[in-house]
Amino acid sequence: MNTLLECINKKNNSYTPIWFMRQAGRYLPEFREIRKKNQDFIGLCLNTELVPEITIQPLKRFDIDAAIIFSDILMIPFGLGQGVEFQKGMGPKLSKLEVEKILSNRPVDFINKLNPVYESISKVKKIAKNKAVIGFVGAPWTLLVYMLNKGSPKNNFDINNIINDKNLVEKILKKLEDVICLHISKQVQAGADVIQIFDSWAGLLPEKELPKYCYKPTFNIVKEFKNKVPIICFPRGIKNNYYDFCSIVKPDCISIDYEVDPKWAAKNLKDISIQGGLDPKILLTERDAIGKSVKKYLDTFSNNHYIFNLGHGVLPETKPETISFIIDTIRNKNG
Ligand code: CP3
Repeated sequence: MNTLLECINKKNNSYTPIWFMRQAGRYLPEFREIRKKNQDFIGLCLNTELVPEITIQPLKRFDIDAAIIFSDILMIPFGLGQGVEFQKGMGPKLSKLEVEKILSNRPVDFINKLNPVYESISKVKKIAKNKAVIGFVGAPWTLLVYMLNKGSPKNNFDINNIINDKNLVEKILKKLEDVICLHISKQVQAGADVIQIFDSWAGLLPEKELPKYCYKPTFNIVKEFKNKVPIICFPRGIKNNYYDFCSIVKPDCISIDYEVDPKWAAKNLKDISIQGGLDPKILLTERDAIGKSVKKYLDTFSNNHYIFNLGHGVLPETKPETISFIIDTIRNKNG
């Protein structure tokens, strides 16, 4: 059994597995080099030569315990037939949502479109033999937000615009649940050892709407894969509702964001392995501060089953040497 699975299954807490959300990405010069020559981001995610190469890039540099497949949560809307484009510095842009087309999408067509993703996972699995291979999906709510908002909700988000047609929302959420399960099954079949569900925009939901749009749809997916593949959930931004999330959804591991007080999490999120937490912005500061923060997380979770990671993705401005420094600190090479 590998180190990440041992921790998730609560078999061993004497070793802290390490990986980083967005470890394969823009802070790495070798990624930027490939990206420069491949302007079409979706095309890059479907390239079965380059995806394994990019996925392995951080493993060549760093002593980390997992490879996360280079892909994107927006491959699902793309697979359902909604146009997805990534323009430089603009974030993703999605085309108009054609509801009937999405709802009538056939699994066989979805799989055909995304087959290169699964092929790349098989290749990564062969190369990274002794590492955990992590597949991932966006949660139904976060995908719904991108699909209806046709882009990032960072600046122009009004929840009432999203959930005013309850009937429509329900139909799309159900379709998303099905297609997310399909995408997970295919990733597992191809060799993924663990699946992470990113609910990056769960924090946009008012507390009273969390059960309907976050807990329930995610629970339906987690339930489908119980005892088949471990699932890590990352419901970013839901504050102390992480407690209810864990009791209701029952994932195999919970990834906390940087707004969660680690002491609160260590005490309240019992009987579950915990991942992450450190604010990615700390990585842009002085080594002294970085070392102290890393040690704070390690100390706080010394009695939990803890996977070291950040509270969100590695920022593009991060120096790769900072990642090495953090890993050395955890592996105790700095005294
Ligand atoms: O973690 C990894 O190393 C694997 C690769 C990965 C990418 N996206 C590659 C990527 C993963 C796990 C994702 C998940 C993802 N994608 C999320 C959930 C995690 C999170 O950050 O909250 C979300 C919300 C997306 C949607 C998305 N994709 C956005 C908003 C953007 C543009 C801004 C950004 O964050 O980079 C992307 C593009 C994207 N996905 C890039 C990469 C490396 C950058 C592409 C580029 O411009 O070069």
